[in-house]
Amino acid sequence: MKLLVINGPNLNLTGIRKPEIYGTDTLDTIMSELQAYLSSCNAELYAFQSNHEGELIDIIQSAIGEVDGIIINPGAYTHYSFAIRDAIEACAIPTVEVHLSDINNREEFRRISVIKDVCIAQISGMGKQGYIEAAKLLLSRAMN
Ligand code: DQA
Repeated sequence: MKLLVINGPNLNLTGIRKPEIYGTDTLDTIMSELQAYLSSCNAELYAFQSNHEGELIDIIQSAIGEVDGIIINPGAYTHYSFAIRDAIEACAIPTVEVHLSDINNREEFRRISVIKDVCIAQISGMGKQGYIEAAKLLLSRAMN
């Protein structure tokens, strides 16, 4: 079982950026904890972060035939990137959308996710635990 975790723009600043909203752990720490969890389940993790929409689309496309599931936090692209939505739909790999913060209880514009419909689930507001919950969902789906 191989999972790809994709983090979009500004997620590289996690731990520094608005810690009251996004927490104090760095993205590296969050990914290391996810890696440890997946290793305990005999699953592999590839973690990728980019601030560039095209690079996010390239990595989604390159996952075709390579991974069993994708966890994606597209950052602000969540709210308007139809190109990322199309890439997720085209690659047809089970994908879970994750947000550190509760996007449904923040500014109005964050309540819209244009990628939600092409994902098997949206996990929002659970902080770093959201990535673990997303992995659990994908692992249990692959076993059934
Ligand atoms: C985010 C929520 C988005 O609205 C925001 O633009 C981010 C982070 C989250 O993880 O809570 O960059 O995706």
